[in-house]
Amino acid sequence: MGKLVNLSDLLVHEPLAGKSGIGHTRWATHGAPNEINAHPHRAGPVAVVHNGIVENYKDLRARLAAAGQTPESDTDTETVAMLTQLHLNAGKSPVEAARATIDELEGAFALAFLFDGEEDLMVAARKGSPLAIGHGEGEMYVGSDAIALAPMTNRITYLEEGDFAVLTRTSLEVRDLTGARVTREMRKISMDAARVDKGGHRHFMAKEIAEQPSVLSDTLNAYLTDSGIALPDPGIDFAALDRLTITACGTAYLAGFTAKYWFEQIARLPVEVDVASEFRYREPPITPNTAALFISQSGETADTLAALRYCKGKASALYSVVNVPESSIARESDLALPIHAGVEIGVASTKAFTCQLTVLLLLALKAAEDRGHLPPAARDEILTHLRALPGVFNTALGRDEVIENVAQELAEARDILFLGRGLMYPLAHEGALKLKEISYIHAEAYASGELKHGPIALIDQHVPVVVLAPRDRLFDKTVSNMQEVMARGGRVVLITDAAGAESAGAEAWRVIQMPEVSDLLAPILYALPAQLLAYHTAVAKGTDVDQPRNLAKSVTVE
Ligand code: G6P
Repeated sequence: MGKLVNLSDLLVHEPLAGKSGIGHTRWATHGAPNEINAHPHRAGPVAVVHNGIVENYKDLRARLAAAGQTPESDTDTETVAMLTQLHLNAGKSPVEAARATIDELEGAFALAFLFDGEEDLMVAARKGSPLAIGHGEGEMYVGSDAIALAPMTNRITYLEEGDFAVLTRTSLEVRDLTGARVTREMRKISMDAARVDKGGHRHFMAKEIAEQPSVLSDTLNAYLTDSGIALPDPGIDFAALDRLTITACGTAYLAGFTAKYWFEQIARLPVEVDVASEFRYREPPITPNTAALFISQSGETADTLAALRYCKGKASALYSVVNVPESSIARESDLALPIHAGVEIGVASTKAFTCQLTVLLLLALKAAEDRGHLPPAARDEILTHLRALPGVFNTALGRDEVIENVAQELAEARDILFLGRGLMYPLAHEGALKLKEISYIHAEAYASGELKHGPIALIDQHVPVVVLAPRDRLFDKTVSNMQEVMARGGRVVLITDAAGAESAGAEAWRVIQMPEVSDLLAPILYALPAQLLAYHTAVAKGTDVDQPRNLAKSVTVE
């Protein structure tokens, strides 16, 4: 139970002999995270690890009970092992038994099987959840993604939907849904994952926050040429679009929410944005000339992938903004735009968010150009600001100590509100999300103007209010809302720039002053204080910053 290190410590004292092995870090779906429910699950001669959900496991259990079999755990996975055993007992070979089992499973899953007495055999299958095969020298690997395999090999074969793989130490045989033998390409992955370390920082999250000036430069370099914004082929013709629909989960969704403001303001392109888990079942009509855009750091989030599949054949094109170019979402899009953030380890997304925002702003600018809403001079001015952004980020990182001091005080709170208006409103959501993810303090975001319609009832000296407000055209409106908070004894942390601090800072409880940035770019820069505030609050509270409880980095179950 708990961290992986508990297992590796145990293995030092109780080593396991053998030439092949399977293991799985379980994110509990059925049954509490305890040792009985831990993978692998064994039934007689077969052991199984499983990522995903077997939806018909209750029916299967009933069938197994009728055959006199009782499970030991509460998991859906154990039924897979038990069913395989039943097929083995009926005289099937290990490979046939695994195949027959998989054919009976409903839901989304990735599976790996080992069999007693079959030292040179592993069976793996993919339906819905990703699975990668790694090719070593006289050894083979199976992993949920290429990053997990990167320390061992960079030669990867991605299984496709419905694939069934039989592995030995020196061979790989893949069959598709119909049972026909197929060849799946082996790719060489350029992966800096093998070198992943904290680079002298206390946490991966701190390192990833600090890396932003450099990764933002990488993102900009990938899309900006001397002559302007360049997208990979086949590009996007925004002039032909009437609407864009953006779908994502978590922090990626909030990047999409911010992009809605950009696309609508500067490109006059109507945008619908939704979380993937709602979108996929709402069955929204996709009107003609609507393109669909999906945002995902991992490119494997189950709900986002399902939303993409829903749009296939309905939307005029499928675009994705991803951090993993080999991911399922990237591979199933007509055009995948990589964000070049590098591997992100901290569960709470930081650098991927700001790189997503940067790509999305570039897309919005391209859309504005295509649709005739952005004269070259205005475009060049924004691009000049964008090119300067990594430097501005660097300056902003210098505010770390001020933010840490504020965080020490916020760590005492039980509830915190985040307020923003316009482009700062989606970011208020990201600030609240980041804080609750890693510090476990309840935080909520509101549009500043919505404060008086309910949340103001919560305000007293015990509920700090973080106000994100650079001195833009909406600043005075937000300051009025801030006054309403202070009039009721609320303590305001104002995150603003020099002009904002000068005009309203004296009244705030604490002020975090950001460097100047143009209005359009403010959401990218202001993500930084939101991240640092969450980070330092979590450190002050002593939580597990990189792996907060109950959360997973890549959610491949719905
Ligand atoms: C999980 C992570 C979040 C992430 C979300 C979407 O909930 O904890 O940090 O934003 O999934 O992930 P994706 O890989 O699709 O961006």
